[in-house]
Amino acid sequence: MRLQDEVFVVTGAQGGMGKETVKRFLEEGAYVAAVDLNVDGAEKTDRLLPIAGDLTKEEDVARIFSEANEAFGKISGLVNIAGIAQSATPIEEVSLGDWEKIMSVNATSLFLTSREAVPYMKKQGEGVIVNIASVSMVRPRPGLNAYIASKGAAVSFSQALAIELAEYGIRVNVVNPGPADTGMLGQFTSKDADIETTKDTVFKKSVPLGRLIQPIDIANSLVYLCSKESAIVTGSVLNVDGGRGI
Ligand SMILES: NC(=O)c1ccc[n+]([C@@H]2O[C@H](COP(=O)([O-])OP(=O)(O)OC[C@H]3O[C@@H](n4cnc5c(N)ncnc54)[C@H](O)[C@@H]3O)[C@@H](O)[C@H]2O)c1
Repeated sequence: MRLQDEVFVVTGAQGGMGKETVKRFLEEGAYVAAVDLNVDGAEKTDRLLPIAGDLTKEEDVARIFSEANEAFGKISGLVNIAGIAQSATPIEEVSLGDWEKIMSVNATSLFLTSREAVPYMKKQGEGVIVNIASVSMVRPRPGLNAYIASKGAAVSFSQALAIELAEYGIRVNVVNPGPADTGMLGQFTSKDADIETTKDTVFKKSVPLGRLIQPIDIANSLVYLCSKESAIVTGSVLNVDGGRGI
């Protein structure tokens, strides 16, 4: 039990990586507040509290943390998995609205959730934050301009917090997934491309280890970064990408 009785807020909990992460964290003995826009079908138990909320809204984020704290009595960790994709689009066709939406979900939500989580962690003298970015921030694909910028912001923000919060015993790290076998993958292709063909011809082929990243690969890396096994790891970016980032 590597996360025994620790309390985690996990965002994007209904998505491909999120669902697997919640499952793994429960298996490791954690309490989990599982947050997503819609939590229909997620059942509340004594260790699992599904919470619906929009992470781009200040008032929703404040409510999420107070509900989690009320249910479980503390917040040990925050795992930000929620995110949205961008379909490959030439820069001159990207609207300001699209840009702002992507930045808001993928970057601003990290600021809002961290701002709520940190006071609980400072009070305890320890805590852990892990943000999911993407290996595309160092190995970009054409047309993912706003998405890649948002993931670059996620990494820089995480490292800024890692140095700011080290003296309080709070660790902040990043996981950079490579192309992963979830519903999101198909959303990165240009509007007229065939999703299934692109998965094999473009995404899978771009991974040196020869397969797409599975949600369990990400969940396992998150267990490590949230456990005491990584007690001296902060400000790190862990590529879970089959070598895509090389
Ligand atoms: N799938 C990939 O190939 C890939 C690669 C690199 C990085 N990533 C990143 O991994 C993370 C997880 O992706 P996934 O593949 O599991 O995608 P997914 O689409 O299956 O899950 C994302 C979840 O985030 C939730 N979400 C979106 N906006 C939200 C908001 N405003 N408030 C609350 N929840 C919101 C969605 O409802 C969804 O359940 C994302 O940050 C993504 O950018 C994915």
